[in-house]
Amino acid sequence: MSMRSIPVSDGIDWVGAIDWNLRDFHGYETPRGTTYNAYLVRGENMTALVDTVKTQFVEELLSRISDIMDPADIDLIVVNHIEPDHNSGLRAVMAAMPNARVVASAGGVRGIVEYHDGLVVDAVGAADVIDLGGKTLRFMPMPMVHWPDSMFTYVAESKTLLPNDAFGQHMACAERFADEVGMDLSLHELAEYYANILMPIGKQVAKAVEKVVESGWELEVVAPSHGVIWRGEAIGQVIEAYGRMTASETRDKIVVAYSTMWGSTDILARAIADGVAAEGTEVVLYDMAVSLISQVTLDLMDSRALLLGSPTLHHGMLFRIAGYLQYLSGVKPPGKIAGTFGSYGWSSGATKQMDGRLLEIGFEMPHDSFTQKYKPSAEELQAAREWGAQFAKTVKERT
Ligand code: FEO
Repeated sequence: MSMRSIPVSDGIDWVGAIDWNLRDFHGYETPRGTTYNAYLVRGENMTALVDTVKTQFVEELLSRISDIMDPADIDLIVVNHIEPDHNSGLRAVMAAMPNARVVASAGGVRGIVEYHDGLVVDAVGAADVIDLGGKTLRFMPMPMVHWPDSMFTYVAESKTLLPNDAFGQHMACAERFADEVGMDLSLHELAEYYANILMPIGKQVAKAVEKVVESGWELEVVAPSHGVIWRGEAIGQVIEAYGRMTASETRDKIVVAYSTMWGSTDILARAIADGVAAEGTEVVLYDMAVSLISQVTLDLMDSRALLLGSPTLHHGMLFRIAGYLQYLSGVKPPGKIAGTFGSYGWSSGATKQMDGRLLEIGFEMPHDSFTQKYKPSAEELQAAREWGAQFAKTVKERT
């Protein structure tokens, strides 16, 4: 018995793997799991497998291919991207396809040598066309979207783009198309993926989209390597969503994120959020001890300010806040303001540390931090509300 393959477009079938239980993707949470998509492109003379899967999912990939054909009859393996979620299974896949030639971008060829103990494969680039017989493969190297080796593959006869990570989302589901699981959920997951992986390279992503649009390639299907596939009208919505995200569009919205020891910073955070909301500004509040950084970062992406709170422990901030600041230094949300707050016992220090890190990351800090000793009094809570409200006003002034 084989696991099922799923038709994607004329001559192209999905044969990937569903990682239902993945909850950590290289350090950030994936509450809905993910998929590692791979596609069979069948011409009259040759069959190509575009992308492979993570090592532990090779059997699933081979089983889905067997739903259509004997994997041993595959002629070509295209490696769009060498990151291990797509390519750690390459050696095992090649063992099941002994006659297959393997191609990758020039950067991919160099990476495969190192990842796979000296394995040498062929390079393809923008000038190459591989004719499978009535189906042709064209390639568009996309260096740094998001690795040096990244590449898109296009099948003109099926009007299908296989862009690997671009346009992907971490979402495990039995359905393969965005319109089947619903566009709202699909676009939400697209945004969460973008916020956590692509935000720091927004300019390159914008150029990549421009390059595809300028190529004149007709698109009826865009089939990424994670999550659901976009077809028909969904493609325009996805390109529009990428346009908004790469332009760093924001709303009148503030994120309050904090960690607390004995509840004082928690009470302050709630008062601050209330002060923001009272000004008519959208606010979301996250206790970092119980929140997913992937969701906080998604909310931060279209916000104009981050208000970060920590009490002082051993003269500094709590480790969850330090950890999140380290995460933010990687994803680099552009063009935002920040403020810091927190309670302390006998010596302060957390807000100073947080201020330093936020400035380093590139946040603008227009207002002084808000600190308070031990348990906040009614007056101090009112001051915290006002402190939150001033950020809401600042954000409005800059809209
Ligand atoms: Fe899905 Fe960059 O790997």
